[in-house]
Amino acid sequence: MAPKITVIGTGYLGATHAAAMAELGFEVLGLDVVPEKVELLSAGRVPMYEPGLEELLRRHVQGLEGATGRLRFTTSYQEVADFGDVHFVCVNTPQKHGEYGCDMRYVDSAIESLAPLLTRPALVVGKSTVPVGSAARLAARVRELAPVGEGAELAWNPEFLREGFAVQDTLHPDRIVVGVTSEDAERRLREVYATPIGEGSPFVVTDFPTAELVKTAANSFLATKISFINAMAEVCEAAGGDVVKLADAIGHDDRIGRKFLGAGIGFGGGCLPKDIRAFMARAGELGADQALTFLREVDSINMRRRGHMVDLTRDALGGTLLGKRVAVLGATFKPDSDDVRDSPALNVAGQLQLQGAQVTVYDPKGMDNARAVFPTLVYAASAMEAARGADVVLHLTAWREFGELDPAELGEAVAVKHILDGRNSLDPELWRKAGWTFRALGRPTA
Ligand code: UDX
Repeated sequence: MAPKITVIGTGYLGATHAAAMAELGFEVLGLDVVPEKVELLSAGRVPMYEPGLEELLRRHVQGLEGATGRLRFTTSYQEVADFGDVHFVCVNTPQKHGEYGCDMRYVDSAIESLAPLLTRPALVVGKSTVPVGSAARLAARVRELAPVGEGAELAWNPEFLREGFAVQDTLHPDRIVVGVTSEDAERRLREVYATPIGEGSPFVVTDFPTAELVKTAANSFLATKISFINAMAEVCEAAGGDVVKLADAIGHDDRIGRKFLGAGIGFGGGCLPKDIRAFMARAGELGADQALTFLREVDSINMRRRGHMVDLTRDALGGTLLGKRVAVLGATFKPDSDDVRDSPALNVAGQLQLQGAQVTVYDPKGMDNARAVFPTLVYAASAMEAARGADVVLHLTAWREFGELDPAELGEAVAVKHILDGRNSLDPELWRKAGWTFRALGRPTA
């Protein structure tokens, strides 16, 4: 009999994992403590923008026309405990307020709520990104609290999905990493992943700390790569070099690779920034803080990019932002997402407004979330509308739609044809030919 799956927490990670498991043929029960989310998901609707996820849900949510009925949602831990053989914990682990450490309250509360109800054998699988050492602590807690005792076990199985590609990354992962303490746990996880999901994906079996560290190490490496190229952008700007050409050239070396060498206003979102900070905090607790001091530099290069974009905008406007009209294209932390958590684009827009500019923002999918975070900014319904009467246009999130803008058409809307590319993804020649002053981070001015 195929194991019955539950997924606790239905954010980007949980909702996608639940839908993917149903797609693979499992019976799945998803839990969220927010009743409105459960209601929405039960109607086959996704509370965030994630390409392909809604279609996947609609194919499986019980009660929807034409759906397999393999997937449903609840707010009840009792139902989850009664139903599942394998329980995936997918709740978020945000940064603690005002400090670097990871806030474990949602993971802790998931375990504390579920474990006391486990009266039959079950495998609890953590997927959230946690400080190393958490799995061992939580495994002990599960054993302590579960009425079934040794029959309840914990495993760690970090998730590497990217927002905007969540469905694809979940159905076709680069690798599957499992941290286990028993052969039985490994066998049960192999059973779950012995579906098309695991085909062609290396299956790495390891201990708890290594499994936890794989995730934080991977995100730290990616963050380091971005900050490295952004540091090169600073040097290119000082020396008159071109960071895009430089990235292309070093990227041809396949030991380096071209991916994640996109220089610009830096990384944001709900993962990279908080993960490197939590990693530093945890290393400090373990007495290994020296090993990660470079991540402090990675973080500070990244944060400097936002200030630099503000400075360039002020320069473009003749030294003052007061009363100047700035059109901001992009609010989300990256394209194909509606997520504005720690978004460099929104941060730059906010700083410009605080310094007296009149800022109008347009984003294809992130407007509602941006409005909730920054209600004082002006929001436009299109790029063209945002650009109307602008003294300068800032390109801050690399949505495909912005790459397809017609510089001539936009040129008719603005007061001054001046554009700053904060993502190095627009074609300078195209804009310059249409009479624009075009400036990009880390590239020559003309
Ligand atoms: C990241 C990891 O990629 C993923 O494996 C992990 O599971 C969660 O964290 P995500 O936060 O969705 O995923 O976004 P990602 O695509 O990694 O981009 C992160 C940020 O880096 C974005 O703000 C993006 O704009 C920026 N970025 C990315 C750059 O500035 N330059 C690049 O070359 C690539």
